[in-house]
Amino acid sequence: MKILAIETSFDEAGLAIVEYEQKGTTTTIEVLSDTLFSQAKEHEEYGGVYPTLAKQIHAKNLTSLLTRTLTEAHLYTTTDTSEVSGEKLLEIQTILEREPEMYAQLAGLLVTIRRPDIDAIAITRGPGLEPALWIGIGFAKALSVAWDIPLTPVNHMEGHVAAALAVQSPKENRKKFIIEQPKLPALALLISGAHTELILVKDWLHYKKIGSTRDDAIGEAYDKAARLLGFPYPGGPKISQLASEAREENLDQPYSLPRPMLTTDDFDFSFSGLKTAVRTLVESIETPTEIQKKQIAREFDDAAIEVLVRKTKNAIEAHAVQTLIVSGGVSASAHIRANLEKLTKEYEDMSFYVPSLDLATDNGRMIVFAAAIHNSPTAPAEDILATGNLSL
Ligand code: KG4
Ligand code: ZN
Repeated sequence: MKILAIETSFDEAGLAIVEYEQKGTTTTIEVLSDTLFSQAKEHEEYGGVYPTLAKQIHAKNLTSLLTRTLTEAHLYTTTDTSEVSGEKLLEIQTILEREPEMYAQLAGLLVTIRRPDIDAIAITRGPGLEPALWIGIGFAKALSVAWDIPLTPVNHMEGHVAAALAVQSPKENRKKFIIEQPKLPALALLISGAHTELILVKDWLHYKKIGSTRDDAIGEAYDKAARLLGFPYPGGPKISQLASEAREENLDQPYSLPRPMLTTDDFDFSFSGLKTAVRTLVESIETPTEIQKKQIAREFDDAAIEVLVRKTKNAIEAHAVQTLIVSGGVSASAHIRANLEKLTKEYEDMSFYVPSLDLATDNGRMIVFAAAIHNSPTAPAEDILATGNLSL
Protein backbone atom coordinates (compact mmCIF):
# COMPACT_ATOMS: atom_id res chain seq x y z
CA MET A 1 0.00 0.00 0.00
CA LYS A 2 1.16 3.50 -0.79
CA ILE A 3 -0.20 6.41 1.23
CA LEU A 4 0.16 10.15 1.00
CA ALA A 5 -0.22 12.07 4.27
CA ILE A 6 -1.16 15.69 4.79
CA GLU A 7 -0.61 17.38 8.15
CA THR A 8 -1.59 21.02 8.78
CA SER A 9 -2.81 21.00 12.38
CA PHE A 10 -0.58 23.80 13.63
CA ASP A 11 2.23 25.87 12.18
CA GLU A 12 3.93 23.19 10.11
CA ALA A 13 2.67 21.76 6.85
CA GLY A 14 4.03 18.26 6.42
CA LEU A 15 3.46 15.95 3.46
CA ALA A 16 4.86 12.45 3.11
CA ILE A 17 4.43 9.37 0.96
CA VAL A 18 5.21 5.89 2.25
CA GLU A 19 4.84 2.37 1.04
CA TYR A 20 4.06 -0.17 3.74
CA GLU A 21 3.30 -3.79 4.38
CA GLN A 22 1.52 -5.18 7.40
CA LYS A 23 1.88 -8.66 8.89
CA GLY A 24 -0.12 -9.14 12.07
CA THR A 25 0.81 -6.29 14.37
CA THR A 26 4.08 -5.52 12.57
CA THR A 27 4.18 -2.76 9.96
CA THR A 28 7.20 -2.32 7.70
CA ILE A 29 7.39 1.13 6.18
CA GLU A 30 9.51 2.72 3.48
CA VAL A 31 9.43 6.50 3.26
CA LEU A 32 9.35 7.55 -0.38
CA SER A 33 9.20 11.27 0.27
CA ASP A 34 8.87 13.73 3.08
CA THR A 35 8.49 17.51 2.87
CA LEU A 36 7.89 20.13 5.51
CA PHE A 37 7.17 23.83 5.55
CA SER A 38 7.62 25.39 8.97
CA GLN A 39 6.04 28.77 9.63
CA ALA A 40 7.95 29.48 12.84
CA LYS A 41 9.58 32.61 11.32
CA GLU A 42 6.22 34.06 10.27
CA HIS A 43 4.80 33.72 13.80
CA GLU A 44 7.87 35.02 15.60
CA GLU A 45 6.50 38.54 16.05
CA TYR A 46 3.25 37.23 17.61
CA GLY A 47 5.11 35.18 20.21
CA GLY A 48 2.93 32.19 19.33
CA VAL A 49 0.96 30.75 16.45
CA TYR A 50 -1.58 33.14 14.94
CA PRO A 51 -4.37 30.88 13.54
CA THR A 52 -5.52 33.02 10.59
CA LEU A 53 -1.97 33.50 9.40
CA ALA A 54 -1.23 29.77 9.84
CA LYS A 55 -4.20 28.93 7.66
CA GLN A 56 -3.26 31.43 4.95
CA ILE A 57 0.32 30.20 4.75
CA HIS A 58 -0.80 26.55 4.55
CA ALA A 59 -3.22 27.44 1.74
CA LYS A 60 -0.46 29.20 -0.19
CA ASN A 61 2.08 26.40 0.16
CA LEU A 62 0.27 23.08 -0.11
CA THR A 63 0.26 22.79 -3.90
CA SER A 64 3.99 23.39 -4.23
CA LEU A 65 4.66 21.02 -1.32
CA LEU A 66 2.59 18.39 -3.11
CA THR A 67 4.61 18.86 -6.29
CA ARG A 68 7.84 18.37 -4.31
CA THR A 69 6.44 15.36 -2.46
CA LEU A 70 5.30 13.61 -5.65
CA THR A 71 8.56 14.43 -7.41
CA GLU A 72 10.70 13.07 -4.57
CA ALA A 73 8.65 9.84 -4.59
CA HIS A 74 9.05 9.56 -8.41
CA LEU A 75 5.27 9.86 -8.75
CA TYR A 76 5.23 13.12 -10.68
CA THR A 77 4.49 12.60 -14.37
CA THR A 78 3.24 15.36 -16.62
CA THR A 79 0.61 14.94 -19.33
CA ASP A 80 -0.72 17.11 -22.15
CA THR A 81 -4.27 15.83 -21.71
CA SER A 82 -5.85 16.48 -18.35
CA GLU A 83 -6.93 13.35 -16.48
CA VAL A 84 -9.27 15.40 -14.29
CA SER A 85 -12.61 16.14 -15.94
CA GLY A 86 -14.28 19.56 -15.95
CA GLU A 87 -17.02 18.10 -13.79
CA LYS A 88 -14.50 17.03 -11.17
CA LEU A 89 -12.82 20.42 -11.27
CA LEU A 90 -16.18 22.01 -10.50
CA GLU A 91 -16.64 19.67 -7.57
CA ILE A 92 -13.15 20.55 -6.30
CA GLN A 93 -13.89 24.24 -6.74
CA THR A 94 -16.93 23.81 -4.48
CA ILE A 95 -14.85 21.98 -1.86
CA LEU A 96 -12.29 24.80 -1.91
CA GLU A 97 -14.89 27.54 -2.25
CA ARG A 98 -13.37 29.56 0.58
CA GLU A 99 -9.84 29.27 -0.74
CA PRO A 100 -10.01 30.44 -4.38
CA GLU A 101 -6.25 30.92 -4.63
CA MET A 102 -5.53 27.45 -3.36
CA TYR A 103 -8.07 26.10 -5.84
CA ALA A 104 -6.45 27.98 -8.74
CA GLN A 105 -2.99 26.66 -7.86
CA LEU A 106 -4.18 23.10 -7.31
CA ALA A 107 -6.34 22.99 -10.43
CA GLY A 108 -3.36 24.28 -12.40
CA LEU A 109 -1.32 21.32 -11.19
CA LEU A 110 -4.05 18.68 -11.50
CA VAL A 111 -4.68 19.30 -15.19
CA THR A 112 -1.02 18.81 -16.04
CA ILE A 113 -0.12 15.63 -14.13
CA ARG A 114 -1.04 11.97 -14.19
CA ARG A 115 -2.88 10.31 -11.33
CA PRO A 116 -0.13 9.08 -9.00
CA ASP A 117 -0.07 5.45 -7.91
CA ILE A 118 -1.36 6.05 -4.36
CA ASP A 119 -3.91 3.89 -2.49
CA ALA A 120 -5.02 6.22 0.31
CA ILE A 121 -4.67 9.79 1.51
CA ALA A 122 -4.11 10.15 5.27
CA ILE A 123 -5.29 13.44 6.69
CA THR A 124 -5.01 14.95 10.17
CA ARG A 125 -8.51 15.72 11.45
CA GLY A 126 -7.43 16.98 14.89
CA PRO A 127 -6.52 18.03 17.44
CA GLY A 128 -5.11 21.39 16.43
CA LEU A 129 -6.15 24.81 15.18
CA GLU A 130 -9.39 24.33 13.28
CA PRO A 131 -8.74 26.93 10.56
CA ALA A 132 -5.38 25.27 9.86
CA LEU A 133 -6.86 21.76 9.97
CA TRP A 134 -9.60 22.74 7.50
CA ILE A 135 -7.02 23.75 4.89
CA GLY A 136 -5.38 20.33 4.95
CA ILE A 137 -8.74 18.56 5.00
CA GLY A 138 -10.06 20.60 2.05
CA PHE A 139 -6.88 19.89 0.12
CA ALA A 140 -7.09 16.16 0.86
CA LYS A 141 -10.76 16.01 -0.15
CA ALA A 142 -9.93 17.80 -3.40
CA LEU A 143 -7.21 15.27 -4.22
CA SER A 144 -9.52 12.42 -3.26
CA VAL A 145 -12.10 13.64 -5.79
CA ALA A 146 -9.51 14.34 -8.50
CA TRP A 147 -7.87 10.94 -8.30
CA ASP A 148 -10.59 8.71 -6.78
CA ILE A 149 -8.41 7.89 -3.79
CA PRO A 150 -10.06 7.15 -0.41
CA LEU A 151 -9.34 9.21 2.70
CA THR A 152 -7.97 7.95 6.01
CA PRO A 153 -8.59 10.35 8.91
CA VAL A 154 -5.78 10.46 11.49
CA ASN A 155 -5.53 11.73 15.04
CA HIS A 156 -2.45 13.95 15.31
CA MET A 157 -1.64 12.61 18.81
CA GLU A 158 -1.59 9.05 17.53
CA GLY A 159 0.88 10.35 14.96
CA HIS A 160 3.19 11.36 17.81
CA VAL A 161 2.84 7.87 19.34
CA ALA A 162 3.56 6.16 16.00
CA ALA A 163 6.58 8.43 15.42
CA ALA A 164 8.10 7.25 18.70
CA LEU A 165 7.41 3.58 18.00
CA ALA A 166 8.92 3.77 14.49
CA VAL A 167 12.32 2.12 14.68
CA GLN A 168 14.78 2.66 11.82
CA SER A 169 15.50 -0.73 10.33
CA PRO A 170 18.21 -1.34 9.28
CA LYS A 171 19.57 1.24 11.70
CA GLU A 172 21.59 3.18 9.15
CA ASN A 173 18.66 3.51 6.73
CA ARG A 174 16.71 6.68 7.48
CA LYS A 175 13.97 5.70 5.05
CA LYS A 176 13.01 2.28 6.39
CA PHE A 177 11.08 1.81 9.61
CA ILE A 178 9.41 -1.00 11.52
CA ILE A 179 6.57 -0.42 13.94
CA GLU A 180 5.77 -3.34 16.21
CA GLN A 181 3.31 -3.73 19.00
CA PRO A 182 5.24 -2.86 22.18
CA LYS A 183 4.90 -4.73 25.46
CA LEU A 184 1.57 -3.76 27.00
CA PRO A 185 0.33 -1.99 28.98
CA ALA A 186 2.22 0.93 27.50
CA LEU A 187 2.13 4.52 28.67
CA ALA A 188 2.58 7.45 26.28
CA LEU A 189 3.70 10.80 27.61
CA LEU A 190 2.84 13.28 24.88
CA ILE A 191 4.48 16.67 25.36
CA SER A 192 4.10 19.35 22.73
CA GLY A 193 3.26 22.98 22.18
CA ALA A 194 -0.42 22.25 22.60
CA HIS A 195 -0.56 19.07 24.72
CA THR A 196 0.68 17.46 27.90
CA GLU A 197 -0.96 14.07 28.22
CA LEU A 198 -0.50 10.68 29.76
CA ILE A 199 -2.15 8.03 27.63
CA LEU A 200 -2.56 4.43 28.68
CA VAL A 201 -2.44 1.73 26.00
CA LYS A 202 -3.75 -1.50 27.51
CA ASP A 203 -4.68 -3.03 24.17
CA TRP A 204 -2.81 -2.33 20.95
CA LEU A 205 -4.24 0.74 19.18
CA HIS A 206 -6.69 1.50 21.99
CA TYR A 207 -5.97 4.60 23.99
CA LYS A 208 -7.20 5.99 27.27
CA LYS A 209 -6.23 9.43 28.47
CA ILE A 210 -5.42 9.20 32.17
CA GLY A 211 -3.87 12.62 32.68
CA SER A 212 -3.55 15.99 30.99
CA THR A 213 -2.77 19.62 31.67
CA ARG A 214 -5.39 21.68 33.40
CA ASP A 215 -4.14 24.89 31.78
CA ASP A 216 -1.04 25.56 29.63
CA ALA A 217 0.70 22.83 27.68
CA ILE A 218 4.30 22.20 28.61
CA GLY A 219 5.69 23.45 25.28
CA GLU A 220 3.60 26.59 25.61
CA ALA A 221 5.16 27.17 29.04
CA TYR A 222 8.68 26.71 27.60
CA ASP A 223 7.85 29.12 24.78
CA LYS A 224 6.38 31.70 27.17
CA ALA A 225 9.33 31.44 29.57
CA ALA A 226 11.62 31.96 26.57
CA ARG A 227 9.66 34.99 25.51
CA LEU A 228 9.92 36.50 28.99
CA LEU A 229 13.68 36.09 28.68
CA GLY A 230 13.63 37.85 25.32
CA PHE A 231 13.84 34.91 22.90
CA PRO A 232 11.65 34.51 19.80
CA TYR A 233 8.94 31.88 19.29
CA PRO A 234 9.31 28.93 19.58
CA GLY A 235 11.81 29.36 22.39
CA GLY A 236 11.54 25.87 23.97
CA PRO A 237 14.79 24.65 22.39
CA LYS A 238 16.56 27.83 23.59
CA ILE A 239 15.46 27.24 27.20
CA SER A 240 16.70 23.63 26.98
CA GLN A 241 19.99 24.82 25.55
CA LEU A 242 20.54 27.52 28.22
CA ALA A 243 19.60 25.05 30.95
CA SER A 244 22.17 22.55 29.73
CA GLU A 245 24.81 25.29 29.54
CA ALA A 246 24.01 26.22 33.15
CA ARG A 247 24.51 22.57 34.13
CA GLU A 248 27.74 22.21 32.15
CA GLU A 249 29.14 25.43 33.57
CA ASN A 250 28.07 24.41 37.07
CA LEU A 251 26.37 27.74 37.69
CA ASP A 252 24.87 28.42 41.13
CA GLN A 253 21.14 27.86 41.48
CA PRO A 254 19.96 31.03 43.21
CA TYR A 255 16.32 30.85 42.06
CA SER A 256 13.51 28.58 42.98
CA LEU A 257 10.36 28.09 40.94
CA PRO A 258 7.23 26.08 41.87
CA ARG A 259 6.62 22.45 40.83
CA PRO A 260 2.85 22.72 40.19
CA MET A 261 0.72 19.71 41.19
CA LEU A 262 3.84 17.69 41.99
CA THR A 263 2.27 15.84 44.88
CA THR A 264 -1.36 15.68 43.82
CA ASP A 265 -2.94 12.28 43.74
CA ASP A 266 -3.70 12.21 39.99
CA PHE A 267 -1.88 12.21 36.66
CA ASP A 268 -2.72 15.78 35.73
CA PHE A 269 -0.40 18.71 35.13
CA SER A 270 -0.51 22.48 35.40
CA PHE A 271 2.07 24.82 33.94
CA SER A 272 0.50 28.27 34.04
CA GLY A 273 1.66 28.90 37.63
CA LEU A 274 5.22 28.04 36.64
CA LYS A 275 5.04 30.49 33.75
CA THR A 276 3.63 33.21 36.02
CA ALA A 277 6.41 32.56 38.53
CA VAL A 278 8.97 33.09 35.73
CA ARG A 279 7.28 36.38 34.88
CA THR A 280 7.39 37.57 38.51
CA LEU A 281 11.03 36.52 38.80
CA VAL A 282 12.09 38.23 35.56
CA GLU A 283 10.20 41.39 36.53
CA SER A 284 11.94 41.47 39.90
CA ILE A 285 15.34 41.25 38.22
CA GLU A 286 14.33 43.77 35.52
CA THR A 287 17.09 43.09 32.99
CA PRO A 288 18.54 39.64 33.57
CA THR A 289 22.17 39.13 32.57
CA GLU A 290 23.20 36.25 30.29
CA ILE A 291 24.21 34.26 33.37
CA GLN A 292 20.89 34.96 35.12
CA LYS A 293 19.02 33.86 31.99
CA LYS A 294 20.84 30.54 32.09
CA GLN A 295 20.08 30.15 35.79
CA ILE A 296 16.39 30.88 35.28
CA ALA A 297 16.21 28.54 32.28
CA ARG A 298 17.82 25.78 34.32
CA GLU A 299 15.47 26.20 37.24
CA PHE A 300 12.48 26.27 34.88
CA ASP A 301 13.71 23.14 33.08
CA ASP A 302 14.36 21.35 36.39
CA ALA A 303 10.88 22.25 37.66
CA ALA A 304 9.11 21.09 34.49
CA ILE A 305 11.10 17.85 34.32
CA GLU A 306 10.57 17.03 37.98
CA VAL A 307 6.82 17.21 37.49
CA LEU A 308 6.93 15.17 34.26
CA VAL A 309 9.04 12.44 35.85
CA ARG A 310 6.96 12.24 39.05
CA LYS A 311 3.61 12.02 37.29
CA THR A 312 4.93 9.52 34.78
CA LYS A 313 6.35 7.41 37.60
CA ASN A 314 3.01 7.47 39.42
CA ALA A 315 1.21 6.34 36.27
CA ILE A 316 3.77 3.58 35.59
CA GLU A 317 3.24 2.19 39.07
CA ALA A 318 -0.52 2.55 39.14
CA HIS A 319 -0.96 0.68 35.86
CA ALA A 320 1.91 -1.84 35.90
CA VAL A 321 3.25 -0.26 32.73
CA GLN A 322 5.83 -2.21 30.69
CA THR A 323 6.63 0.30 27.96
CA LEU A 324 7.14 4.05 28.15
CA ILE A 325 6.64 6.09 24.97
CA VAL A 326 7.66 9.76 25.03
CA SER A 327 6.82 11.95 22.07
CA GLY A 328 5.83 15.42 20.84
CA GLY A 329 7.97 18.48 20.15
CA VAL A 330 9.20 18.88 23.73
CA SER A 331 10.57 15.31 23.64
CA ALA A 332 13.31 16.75 21.41
CA SER A 333 14.95 17.94 24.66
CA ALA A 334 17.93 15.67 25.39
CA HIS A 335 17.66 16.31 29.13
CA ILE A 336 13.98 15.36 29.22
CA ARG A 337 14.70 12.17 27.26
CA ALA A 338 17.59 11.28 29.53
CA ASN A 339 15.55 11.79 32.70
CA LEU A 340 12.61 9.73 31.47
CA GLU A 341 14.88 6.99 30.20
CA LYS A 342 16.56 6.94 33.60
CA LEU A 343 13.15 6.52 35.19
CA THR A 344 12.45 3.43 33.09
CA LYS A 345 15.71 1.88 34.32
CA GLU A 346 14.19 1.71 37.80
CA TYR A 347 11.92 -1.05 36.51
CA GLU A 348 12.98 -4.43 35.25
CA ASP A 349 12.71 -4.94 31.48
CA MET A 350 10.79 -1.77 30.80
CA SER A 351 10.98 -0.69 27.13
CA PHE A 352 11.52 2.94 26.25
CA TYR A 353 10.65 4.65 22.96
CA VAL A 354 11.36 8.21 21.82
CA PRO A 355 11.25 9.47 18.22
CA SER A 356 14.39 10.44 16.35
CA LEU A 357 14.83 14.22 16.64
CA ASP A 358 13.38 14.97 13.21
CA LEU A 359 10.27 12.93 14.07
CA ALA A 360 9.70 14.58 17.48
CA THR A 361 8.22 17.84 16.19
CA ASP A 362 5.23 17.90 13.83
CA ASN A 363 5.80 16.37 10.39
CA GLY A 364 4.01 14.43 7.66
CA ARG A 365 5.64 11.05 8.32
CA MET A 366 4.07 10.68 11.77
CA ILE A 367 0.61 10.97 10.20
CA VAL A 368 1.34 8.39 7.55
CA PHE A 369 2.82 6.07 10.23
CA ALA A 370 -0.38 6.34 12.29
CA ALA A 371 -2.48 5.54 9.21
CA ALA A 372 -0.23 2.58 8.35
CA ILE A 373 -0.44 0.87 11.76
CA HIS A 374 -4.21 0.84 11.34
CA ASN A 375 -3.81 -0.42 7.76
CA SER A 376 -5.40 2.78 6.41
CA PRO A 377 -9.09 2.48 7.33
CA THR A 378 -11.07 4.79 5.09
CA ALA A 379 -13.95 7.14 5.88
CA PRO A 380 -16.39 9.03 3.64
CA ALA A 381 -15.26 12.59 2.95
CA GLU A 382 -18.38 14.10 4.51
CA ASP A 383 -17.54 12.43 7.84
CA ILE A 384 -14.11 14.04 8.05
CA LEU A 385 -14.44 17.25 9.99
CA ALA A 386 -11.70 19.35 11.58
CA THR A 387 -11.93 18.73 15.32
CA GLY A 388 -9.77 21.11 17.31
CA ASN A 389 -10.09 19.28 20.62
CA LEU A 390 -10.11 15.72 19.28
CA SER A 391 -8.79 13.38 21.91
CA LEU A 392 -7.10 10.02 21.66
O1 KG4 B 1 4.80 18.70 18.55
P1 KG4 B 1 5.15 20.09 18.14
O2 KG4 B 1 6.08 20.26 16.96
O3 KG4 B 1 3.90 20.94 17.81
C1 KG4 B 1 2.68 20.79 18.48
O4 KG4 B 1 1.89 19.90 18.07
O5 KG4 B 1 2.50 21.54 19.45
O6 KG4 B 1 5.78 20.80 19.44
C2 KG4 B 1 6.29 22.10 19.40
C3 KG4 B 1 6.76 22.48 20.81
C4 KG4 B 1 7.11 23.97 20.95
O7 KG4 B 1 6.51 24.46 22.12
C5 KG4 B 1 8.63 23.95 21.07
O8 KG4 B 1 9.16 25.03 21.81
C6 KG4 B 1 8.85 22.64 21.79
O9 KG4 B 1 7.94 21.76 21.16
N1 KG4 B 1 10.22 22.15 21.67
C7 KG4 B 1 11.07 22.05 22.71
C8 KG4 B 1 12.29 21.55 22.18
N2 KG4 B 1 12.12 21.37 20.83
C9 KG4 B 1 10.84 21.73 20.54
N3 KG4 B 1 10.92 22.32 24.01
C10 KG4 B 1 11.97 22.10 24.82
N4 KG4 B 1 13.17 21.65 24.39
C11 KG4 B 1 13.37 21.35 23.10
N5 KG4 B 1 14.55 20.90 22.69
ZN1 ZN C 1 2.21 17.85 17.56
